[in-house]
Amino acid sequence: MNTEQQLARNGGKALVEALNFVTICRTLDPLGNYLHIGDLQWWCRDGSLDDQQNWHFWSQENGKILALGFINGNEIVCLLHPDFRTREHYLMVRQWGLQRLKERTRQQGENQYEVWEEAADDDPETVSFLEHEGYERREMYFHCYHRFLADPLPMPVLPEGFTIRPVAGEAEAEMRAALQRDAFFPKGSKTYKEGTLRQLAVMKMPHYDSQLDLMVMAPDGTPAAGCICWEDPVNRVGLFEPVGTRPQFRRQGLATALTLGGLQHLRERGMQAALVIGTHPGQEKNSTEFTSSRFVYEAVGFQLLRRIYTYHKVFATAI
Ligand SMILES: CC(C)(COP(=O)(O)OP(=O)(O)OC[C@H]1O[C@@H](n2cnc3c(N)ncnc32)[C@H](O)[C@@H]1OP(=O)(O)O)[C@@H](O)C(=O)NCCC(=O)NCCS
Repeated sequence: MNTEQQLARNGGKALVEALNFVTICRTLDPLGNYLHIGDLQWWCRDGSLDDQQNWHFWSQENGKILALGFINGNEIVCLLHPDFRTREHYLMVRQWGLQRLKERTRQQGENQYEVWEEAADDDPETVSFLEHEGYERREMYFHCYHRFLADPLPMPVLPEGFTIRPVAGEAEAEMRAALQRDAFFPKGSKTYKEGTLRQLAVMKMPHYDSQLDLMVMAPDGTPAAGCICWEDPVNRVGLFEPVGTRPQFRRQGLATALTLGGLQHLRERGMQAALVIGTHPGQEKNSTEFTSSRFVYEAVGFQLLRRIYTYHKVFATAI
């Protein structure tokens, strides 16, 4: 099965086009605010983007895509080709997204729906626009990090008896999923079974490579921490998504060592840079479990590219 056929099976035709589109956008604007191909494949793992009605592409007369909108949960994701990054195109995508969410809510027999949208701190126009539209900003936000792989890369250091190794394919899907579920609990998969189905879906994505799905193993063989590295071979940029350590193994330097190990692998495969997203709690209370990753990424040399804020607003279907 070739890449296109494999993709068509996982997430459908829209995912194929979306992967091509974000690759082109990154080529034209390497540090622009574009999803990595790994992000898209990771987001498709739970089947929520299988509905092709949740995707919309706008093309030029020559067939080249100029904009992409899709609905991820209740979020409108808007991606514009670097040559078409205008307010007019942004509004066009948003309008489609609002309409799609409205239709979906009506079909579900409900009369109001919450909409989520993002704006980066290097795009103050969109920040002002959403605030003017009455959207409320969530306290927690995202840090987008970037690291050049030509910069010195220290060797990973693990506690005695711990080792790093790749996942041995689908035979270890259940084990890998249990690690992921425990590291992200109570977020992410609710049950181990659901986690395994999602892990198997990720493993079927065409750019997934089990050699880049890494685990730190404790001396007794328990998987203690894990990360998946994704390659964009066209733009030579890697991505970490996800990174997680089981609660009982935290603060022993495992995520730091694993990230360094992942960076080494990405460099060996010819990647020139890597990306990762961490969260920042803002003033949010009781969120430390999910906000500490930025310290790990900064410790291994990632540098902040931009902050991404999330905004939300409740709409009524009658309007
Ligand atoms: C974020 C996470 C991966 C860190 O894993 P870890 O193995 O504990 O990380 P490390 O031991 O390598 O931590 C390295 C440094 O990061 C910082 N750090 C890590 N966890 C921290 C916390 N809870 N609070 C403050 N600083 C923290 C510290 O500076 C730490 O060094 P120190 O222990 O010597 O002070 C883990 O907490 C986790 O899985 N969280 C839930 C899932 C998640 O949020 N993943 C990231 C997605 S964005």
